[in-house]
This record gives sequence, C-alpha cells and structure tokens, in this order.
Amino acid sequence: MNILSIKNLTLEKSSKKLVDNVSLEIEAGKTYALVGPNGAGKSTLAYILMGLEGYREISGDIVFDGKSIKKLSVPQRAKLGITLAWQEPARFQGLKVEDFLSAAKGKNEESVTDALERVGLASNKYLSRAVDKNLSGGERKRIELAAIICMKPRLVILDEPDSGVDVEALKKVFTVMEYLKSIGTTVIVITHNMQVLKKADHAFLVCDGKLIDESKGEDVVEYFKNRCLTCPHKNKPTEDKIKKI
Ligand SMILES: Nc1ncnc2c1ncn2[C@@H]1O[C@H](COP(=O)(O)OP(=O)(O)O)[C@@H](O)[C@H]1O
Ligand SMILES: [Mg+2]
Repeated sequence: MNILSIKNLTLEKSSKKLVDNVSLEIEAGKTYALVGPNGAGKSTLAYILMGLEGYREISGDIVFDGKSIKKLSVPQRAKLGITLAWQEPARFQGLKVEDFLSAAKGKNEESVTDALERVGLASNKYLSRAVDKNLSGGERKRIELAAIICMKPRLVILDEPDSGVDVEALKKVFTVMEYLKSIGTTVIVITHNMQVLKKADHAFLVCDGKLIDESKGEDVVEYFKNRCLTCPHKNKPTEDKIKKI
C-alpha cells in the first residue's frame, strides 16, 4: 500500500523549475534514499512535502494516505504523522533536552530516556543540557533523531543525517533507521553516504529538479558513476563525491 504518491510535482521560482515534474510512489514501512548532486532539489522536495512557507505554490499533487495534502499547513501535515529532520537542526536557547524530547513525545508511550540512549547519548549527562550552541553539531543531530523516535511519525524525511557527523554518530544513524523501520515508520533519507544508500529498500536519483533514475541503491550508484560523471550540467557530481557515494 502506498502511503505517499507524488504526482507531476513542479515548483517554479523566478522562472526556474526547482522541482520539475516529479512523480514517485512511496510504500508504507519501507526506507527510501534520495540522492543527487548539490543543488539538485532534494531539500526543496523535502520542504514541499512538509508544506513550508515559500514552498507551497506547487503544481501537481501530493497524496498521503489516499488524500491530497497540498492545501494543508505544516501543523496539519505534522498531525497526519509527517515530519522532517533538518539538514541543519535548529537550536533553542535555554530549552532543555528533556523538555524538547517530551514535547516531541506528546502522548506517545515512547520513553525519552530510551530514545536518547538509542542515539548513543547517556541520559544522565544529556537530559539537563540545553538545546543550544553548547551542543556540537553532531550532538544536535543525534538529539533531533531522538526527537523523531519520540514522535513516532508515520513518515519521516531525514535530510542528510550523515553529513558533518563522526563515525560513531553515523553508526547511530543506521541504528535509528533500523529502529524506525521496526516500528513501521516510512523513511525517506536524503544522503551522500553509500552505506546509508545501501540500507534503503529503494533509491531515487534527482538532478536539476528532475527524477532521473530509481532503482535498488547499488544500481543508482552505477547510474551515477556511468552517466553523471560525463554530464555537462554545472552541478554534476565530482569524482570524489561519486567515490563517497
Ligand atoms: N526559496 C528558494 N528560492 C529560490 N531558489 C531556491 C529556493 N530554495 C532553493 N532554491 C534553489 O533550488 C536549488 C535546489 O536547492 P536544494 O533543494 O537545497 O538542493 P539540494 O538539497 O539537492 O542540495 C538550488 O539551486 C537552490 O539555490
Ligand atoms: Mg539539501
């Protein structure tokens, strides 16, 4: 059963198509990778799905659970169980980790302490810390993942959870992806990391706002290697980037 269908989705700004006639289907409970060079439109697609301000003037349709959500606000979409973990997580001056996670948890039964331990942060050390600049970028990302666990969303988009994190934190990204899958959450992960890509059931490759390939992760890597390197597009991936993927 498809939890999400994106139908001929286009977003144009200053006569440039940031997302260009993208159609794709997402099955409930599976994990999907979204890959592509910088500036391809991956985050833009995530913002459109979430319904953020500035990303709502779209053509085409977004169908979640059989109903069009394109007219719904961010909170309405969140209420349906759609959430986004930002590439650059926000910081909240003075807000404690415990309160941040409790707010994410709402009425769910998930334990805030367990969620924190799942991302490898000791609860006795972190619950009383503030979600602000005193946390490193990697810690902040892990806390964002703990918040997603507490939230138990039906669909989560993780925007580059692997960027700027160390090896330990990367391992936790895998653990969290597996855990989310085990509780039935559908995951779309935007990534530049080959290991993350391989964990996905299915991968989409986007470039210049267009969906140009979809397949198993390894096949998408092959396409990337064979086709993208020779591409004349200004945002074509470089050799080192392809090696990373
Ligand atoms: N609000 C906006 N207004 C104009 N251009 C934008 C806006 N948001 C993103 N873009 C442009 O859209 C393109 C895709 O950006 P983005 O989705 O962030 O790429 P990716 O996440 O794949 O690296 C970029 O060229 C970016 O500059
Ligand atoms: Mg991005």
